[in-house]
Amino acid sequence: MVSPTSCLSILVIPLLVTSLFYQVSNAVNDTYLDSICHKSTDYELCSSTFAADNRTSTADLDGLLLICISSNMNLLETTIVNRIPPILEILEYLVDKQRLQHCQSDFIYALGKLSGAYLASASKNYEEGTKLSMDAAFKNAECINEYNMTDFPSPIEDVPNKVGRLIFLSFVIVDEIKKY
Ligand SMILES: *[C@@H]1O[C@H](CO)[C@@H](O)[C@H](O)[C@H]1NC(C)=O
Ligand SMILES: *[C@@H]1O[C@H](CO)[C@@H](O)[C@H](O)[C@H]1NC(C)=O
Ligand SMILES: *[C@@H]1O[C@H](CO)[C@@H](O)[C@H](O)[C@H]1NC(C)=O
Repeated sequence: MVSPTSCLSILVIPLLVTSLFYQVSNAVNDTYLDSICHKSTDYELCSSTFAADNRTSTADLDGLLLICISSNMNLLETTIVNRIPPILEILEYLVDKQRLQHCQSDFIYALGKLSGAYLASASKNYEEGTKLSMDAAFKNAECINEYNMTDFPSPIEDVPNKVGRLIFLSFVIVDEIKKY
């Protein structure tokens, strides 16, 4: 079996190669960025995601789209590599372990799709980017459904919710790009 970590390095290398950011004069101003965050499903998540990235101040809409997708990829990667393994070690029941392992697989799949969405968006192929992001969104939602039928709360409940909201935010940004 291929380990999640070796899958990740395959996914992340092309990302590093193409992570170019244009220093453009048509940077999105604060008022406009705020209006974009209001259109998203989670204003706080949107604001904090852009505030945490020092590329935001010089980013145009394409730059914001890439920041949004890469932030989501970081969240997935941290969850897969750092957060899930120690929880798996302490879970007592096989069924609980399996549920979390299913989520881990869903996240690995979603990360692969978002990696493709990043590359497509970086070359302004928004249609392909949106399609790949939708694939990621559906797989991510399967992790939420894993815990639906149980009394056992998901130990990583915040993650699939955030991933879904960041994907929605990327669609809001693509809508803005299409206006111009
Ligand atoms: C902010 O950007 C928007 C969209 O480009 C523009 O319409 C607006 O005038 C700008 N506002 C300021 C204060 O620069
Ligand atoms: C952003 O921060 C990173 C490290 O925190 C630094 O290496 C990089 O030069 C900074 N970029 C900008 C545009 O300030
Ligand atoms: C899980 O719960 C959510 C929200 O309550 C619901 O929308 C979704 O359809 C449920 N999924 C399943 C498989 O029951």
